[in-house]
Amino acid sequence: MKPKTVYACQECGAQSQKWLGRCAECGAWNSLVEEQAVPAIAGGGAAAAAAGNRYSLAATAGPRLYEEIDTVVSARLTTGIDEFDRVLGGGVVPGSLVLIGGEPGIGKSTLLLQAAAHFAHSTGPVLYSSGEESEHQIKSRGQRLGSPELNDGRAPLYLLAETCLERILEEIGRLRPALVVVDSVQTVFSLKFQSAPGSVGQVREAATQLLFAAKGQNIPTFLVGHVTKDGSLAGPKVLEHIVDTVLYFEGEKHHSHRVVRAVKNRFGAVSELGVFEMTGRGLKAVPNPSQMFLAERPAGAPGSAVLCCMEGSRPLLVEVQALVSTSSYGNARRMASGIDQNRLSLLLAVLEKRAGLNLLGEDVFINVAGGMTIDEPAADLAIVGAVASSLRNRPIKAGTAVFGEVGLAGEIRGTSQALLRIREAAQMGFTRVIVPEANVAPDDAPPGCELVAVKNVGEALDQLMDW
Ligand code: TYD
Ligand code: MG
Repeated sequence: MKPKTVYACQECGAQSQKWLGRCAECGAWNSLVEEQAVPAIAGGGAAAAAAGNRYSLAATAGPRLYEEIDTVVSARLTTGIDEFDRVLGGGVVPGSLVLIGGEPGIGKSTLLLQAAAHFAHSTGPVLYSSGEESEHQIKSRGQRLGSPELNDGRAPLYLLAETCLERILEEIGRLRPALVVVDSVQTVFSLKFQSAPGSVGQVREAATQLLFAAKGQNIPTFLVGHVTKDGSLAGPKVLEHIVDTVLYFEGEKHHSHRVVRAVKNRFGAVSELGVFEMTGRGLKAVPNPSQMFLAERPAGAPGSAVLCCMEGSRPLLVEVQALVSTSSYGNARRMASGIDQNRLSLLLAVLEKRAGLNLLGEDVFINVAGGMTIDEPAADLAIVGAVASSLRNRPIKAGTAVFGEVGLAGEIRGTSQALLRIREAAQMGFTRVIVPEANVAPDDAPPGCELVAVKNVGEALDQLMDW
């Protein structure tokens, strides 16, 4: 019998009986690739059970009462890198499957090699399987890292340059490692499929099989995933559904700091953040990111505001910079990096209408120092303050930090977790924090730090600078 073929979209995973120039599901052009259909298991549940529960995670026979299920508190295993443990929600959960995405060259392999070395040293054998680099390349990177765990010859770290999924699974079964790293899932192929590595069918099969290996043998597994030009994980979205945790590596080419962010986590909070610095000896955790982001702040310069923002459960101080200059062309330019362009337009309109600033013929540029991206509305007040400060050429008062959402009527709205933000500012030596009125309670102020409650944009600007 001729094997049945289907056409699978490489963007979204949708399948079609015949080839189409454009995917009917997601609209991507020229994304359909011929793949062999996987035969469905005839007979449903019974046959699936007979097939050794290959497609099921639990080995139970049927539904069970909620109360009868024991709570398993599995101890978290530490990777030896604090910032990495923090993003994972407090360490690695045994049997979990973690996907790490990021642009090429950002440091995925470096971080995982460092984590693998620590892990091998403290917990047990680690299998590092790479389809991208040879064992020698990995070892020479390890030597460059100069980490004592790697080079004292006692860490049971096994390197495997392999792209065949069945071979990797075989080695996992044989070695019984305490941790598995697969760098990258796009290079792995299964002998069961004819399509090229990196295609939807292959990536899905690799992730699914590694998931069963992870859950079945209780081995935590890290997968490295490539990202496409638009920044999403290459391969289908299904990959994100299969795994327990999805982490993204972010950072700018021209900055040495890297941010690892959790975007999905079945075992912890999302948008949790770990901050690293890329050095000549690998990635170093940055225990106090606020200090790093504020390090080069010019003192007393107009157009610079310090914002207390939240990333996950962690407060962070960052500098928002604005430059307002008279436009020499007909239509003024508005450029924002690190914040949403539309939000900037909205805030400029509020400044014009509610605070009487004339920005019509002015070019406005906004930048968040250090290459951070901020998408919470609590940044509004810092943006407004920086713009007004640059327009009037008056610096924001020394020692002042700020946060708050600006509404369309010019009112300042309260934000979440105000107390954490205020404490972080006080800890970093700020003596005044401008906060939304809704957010202050009488005894909130930490010693040595004054809280200034504001109701609307006009009041806020009066408190921020003398103008
Ligand atoms: P890498 O981990 O190979 O990136 P990925 O796996 O995400 O593609 O990162 C390599 C980059 O980091 C490379 O451009 C060199 C740089 N690097 C350092 O600056 N210091 C180091 O100690 C190492 C190992 C790499
Ligand atoms: Mg790599």
